[in-house]
Amino acid sequence: MNLVFATHNQNKVKEVQALLPGNLSLLSLTDIGCTQEIPETGKTLEENAKLKADFVTQNYGFPCFADDTGLLVTQLQGAPGVYSARYAGEQANANDNMDKLLQELISAGDRSARFETVIALNLNNDQHLFKGTVEGEIIHEKKGKNGFGYDPIFKPKGYSKTFAEIPLDIKNKISHRGKAIHQLITYLNSLNL
Ligand code: IMP
Repeated sequence: MNLVFATHNQNKVKEVQALLPGNLSLLSLTDIGCTQEIPETGKTLEENAKLKADFVTQNYGFPCFADDTGLLVTQLQGAPGVYSARYAGEQANANDNMDKLLQELISAGDRSARFETVIALNLNNDQHLFKGTVEGEIIHEKKGKNGFGYDPIFKPKGYSKTFAEIPLDIKNKISHRGKAIHQLITYLNSLNL
């Protein structure tokens, strides 16, 4: 059976394909001829994940799953949240976003934060949601070269290093995305598709 992962990132597709039952073939958006960016206009991670999965199922007729991730900072009432990719503006890069967040938290007492990933799966006319979170804190300066996004300033709870200093295989085991993907795969495996 073909299952679409609503992403253009072929590396993400390969990573998840390796964990799926052999009779499931994962296709990317590019594989199904969808070259556009699907608009992410939702106000929550759930809404955006559902929007993306529904866009594919409605326009291309494939079973599909889509993910959306955000960094939720307690002192900022859950910001940047759904706006994590463009926190410092539409053209902003990861460094700009981290600089803005560090500035916002300059005198904050509470630096706790968490990453959340929501996956929406459309399969057999049903929708299932899976959620992964990792708690941690925003440190005062960037540390480490691995990873992407806010990794250099996010230190997961129970670790003395940031996500950008931790090897990728360990990050994948404890991360928001890793946990959400694990739930998705456990569910798909249980269906005997
Ligand atoms: P996306 O939904 O996976 O595209 O993630 C949205 C944004 O959240 C990204 O552009 C990053 O800024 C941030 N983000 C998502 N996952 C991570 C992560 O694992 N580490 C650091 N930042 C992340």
